[in-house]
Amino acid sequence: MNSLSSFRGCVLSRSARSTSPLMLDFLAPSILRHSRTRHSSTAASSPPHGARQSSQDSGAGSSKPTYILSKKQREYLDSALRVNQAGELAATLIYTAQTPQVVRSHPHLRPLMKHMYDQEAGHFSTFNKLIAKHRIRPTAMYPIWEVAATFLGWSTGVMGREAAMACTEAVETEIGTHYNDQVREILSWEADAKSRGEELDDELKEMLATFRRIRDEELEHLDHAVENDAKEAQPYDPLVNVIRLGCRAAIKISERV
Ligand SMILES: [Fe+2]
Ligand SMILES: [Fe+2]
Repeated sequence: MNSLSSFRGCVLSRSARSTSPLMLDFLAPSILRHSRTRHSSTAASSPPHGARQSSQDSGAGSSKPTYILSKKQREYLDSALRVNQAGELAATLIYTAQTPQVVRSHPHLRPLMKHMYDQEAGHFSTFNKLIAKHRIRPTAMYPIWEVAATFLGWSTGVMGREAAMACTEAVETEIGTHYNDQVREILSWEADAKSRGEELDDELKEMLATFRRIRDEELEHLDHAVENDAKEAQPYDPLVNVIRLGCRAAIKISERV
């Protein structure tokens, strides 16, 4: 069952936020929000049950009403955050398994491997907090991805520096694209909000900034990999293609399972 649906029944409305410590977040739907969504789509008719007022209350100093996510949009974020957490778990495990082998023969790469690992650990921690905060179910494939990522890191580490870098190149190509798609999707919501004279919830704006920052860091890893001879890996094409295919499959599966 969808994790957002599972707590839908106990969610309080945004208008109660100022009085209730149980108030959830912008990913939490409510009857008021549905009323408010219908209102915004019917332009200047009178606000239902003070719905407009409730959305304005959340605007932290802004006079614009808050854009209310549809069920489909909430489900999109639900699966995006689940996939991102799984991907960042995999990234930390890949580097954990690769690093000892890579730095044994190429000690000068220790700072770079540590830098990339540290960033992945930061990403993982970010998504752990986000899925806990928004009560999103982690992927049921979590233990499988742990084994697969460790094996991928270990095996490319055994193959050598170039293969390890080709692995990073392949993974980051897919993950960078994946984050880019998410950024683009949320930007389309922002444009929709703007056209209605509304604005995104502050938390969603912050999430968008987080996705952009992490995407940029993933693309930085991709650059490091290419600078460190990822293209010299043997056999380059089959290796990169298999890893990219695996990433895409893992993303698709984690979106749902
Ligand atoms: Fe990452
Ligand atoms: Fe990365």
